[in-house]
Amino acid sequence: MKKLEQLYEGKAKKVFATDDPEIVLVDYKDDATAGNGAKKGTIRGKGVINNRVTNSLMKMLETKGIPTHFVEEISERETLVKKVTIVPLEVIVRNVAAGSLAKRLGLPEGTKLKSTVLEYCYKDDALGDPMVNEYHIAAIEAATKAELDIIASYSFKINEILTAYLKDVNIELIDFKLEYGRLADGTIVLADEISPDTCRFWDSITHQHLDKDLFRRDLGGEEEAYQEVMKRLLGE
Ligand code: TMP
Repeated sequence: MKKLEQLYEGKAKKVFATDDPEIVLVDYKDDATAGNGAKKGTIRGKGVINNRVTNSLMKMLETKGIPTHFVEEISERETLVKKVTIVPLEVIVRNVAAGSLAKRLGLPEGTKLKSTVLEYCYKDDALGDPMVNEYHIAAIEAATKAELDIIASYSFKINEILTAYLKDVNIELIDFKLEYGRLADGTIVLADEISPDTCRFWDSITHQHLDKDLFRRDLGGEEEAYQEVMKRLLGE
């Protein structure tokens, strides 16, 4: 398949057209941002790791009945995916209080939540991705009620599958962010990425951060932590 013109450049990835109108090529960068672009930097090797980790997790989720946009990994940093229209929502799933939830509710980071929390943010950088609820989503037509039901049900299922899968490699899944897309026929599929950029991964025993919080909070060691996640998930 031919890599054609660039369609889009985001903070962590570039998207290119291909000679198949239903397939696009995603190219993962090492660029890292935090705080809606306020902090910028590089995490060496991140693009390769996020590409490979995302693809491995998406393939695993497909086998458990979650439809995804994944088609084929074609190089260390490049993957072919189904072309979708992104649903303009960030879907956040939380098992343990951390980050913005810990701050908002005054809970110490690491407090186990009594039940899983699902949050939606409206994807709009200029507005700082504000949190919205089902009523806002219906009112601004970000997704239909039927789509949101599917999105919520997939998100809870993904949480169950990923939590169990990561536990086996001594990673506790604290929280994570998902994005979904619509295929041309309207089918909802999981899109974007699942990586240390978009998840909080804590070592099950030491509770050490194995994710982008090391970068966001200037703690250091992010390159090694990303490598460690890849090693635990892919054995290298
Ligand atoms: P938060 O605690 O900052 O709201 O983040 C919750 C989870 O969602 C955390 O795993 C990081 C992820 N996330 C993203 O991937 N992108 C974002 O823009 C935000 C705000 C969070």
